[in-house]
Amino acid sequence: MRFVWIKGRCAVVWLAMFGIGVCAARAADALDTALETCWSCHGANGAGNDPTVPVIWGQNARYLEKQIRDFSSGDREDQIMSSMASSLRREDISRAAALIAAKPWPGHADTPAAAAPDALAACQGCHGADLSGGDSPEGAAPRLAGQFADYLATAMSGFAGGERANQKTMSAMMKALKPDERAALAKYLAGL
Ligand code: HEC
Ligand code: HEC
Repeated sequence: MRFVWIKGRCAVVWLAMFGIGVCAARAADALDTALETCWSCHGANGAGNDPTVPVIWGQNARYLEKQIRDFSSGDREDQIMSSMASSLRREDISRAAALIAAKPWPGHADTPAAAAPDALAACQGCHGADLSGGDSPEGAAPRLAGQFADYLATAMSGFAGGERANQKTMSAMMKALKPDERAALAKYLAGL
C-alpha cells in the first residue's frame, strides 16, 4: 500500500513539474509571467503597501528601461533592485519596460496639498506641464504626479546627498533645494 502511495505521489509531482514547464513554454508571453515576481513588492495592482517602493505601472517606458539597466550595471545602487534587475535577461529589458509601462497607473490616497511650491515651475520644464513625465533635454524624465511621497522624498534626497548618482542635472537641481523645499515638493507631487 505504502509503495503504491509513494509511487502515485511521485507521478503527481513529476506531472506537475512537467506541466509547469510546458505551460511556461507555451504561454503567450513568458516574460509577463516572469514579471509577476516584481508585483510582490511593487503591488499586484500597481501600487504596493510600502510607500518607499515606487509605483512603476504606467511609468515612462524609456525611463523604466534606463533604471533597470542602471540597477543592473551599478550606476544606480540598491541591493534588492540590483539583483532583481540582473535576474532579467539583457535582451528582455526593453520589452519588460514596455510591458510595465503599458499597464495602468494606479491611483492611491495621498492627500492633495493646498498650494504648489514655488520650485514646481522648474520641474515642469522636463517632467511635463502635468508632471506625467516624458522626453526631456536630459533624457527620459519619469512621471512624478501621484508617486508615493516617501519614495519621492528619498529619491530627491538621494540625488542631493550623492547616494543616487545616475543623472547629473538632477543631482545639481536637488542640491540647490533645501530639505524642507524637497519635502514640500514630494508631498505636493504625491497628491496630484
Ligand atoms: C523585494 C522587493 C522588490 C522586488 C521583488 C522588485 N522591486 Fe523594484 N524596487 C524596489 C525598491 C525598494 C525600489 C526603490 C529603490 C530605491 O529607492 O532606489 C525599487 C525600484 C524599482 C524601479 C525604479 C522606479 C523609479 O521610479 O525610479 C524599477 C524600474 C523597478 N524597481 C523595477 C522592478 C522590476 C522590473 C522588478 C521585477 C523583475 C522589481 N522591480 C522587483 C523593490 C523591489
Ligand atoms: C533638466 C531636466 C529636469 C528638470 C528641470 C527636473 N528634472 Fe527631475 N529628472 C530628470 C530626469 C532626466 C530624470 C531621470 C533620472 C534618471 O535617469 O535616473 C529625473 C528624475 C527625477 C526624480 C526621480 C523619480 C523616480 O521615480 O525615481 C525625481 C523625484 C525628480 N526628478 C524630481 C524633480 C523635481 C521635484 C524637479 C523640480 C524641482 C525636477 N525633477 C526637475 C530631469 C529633470
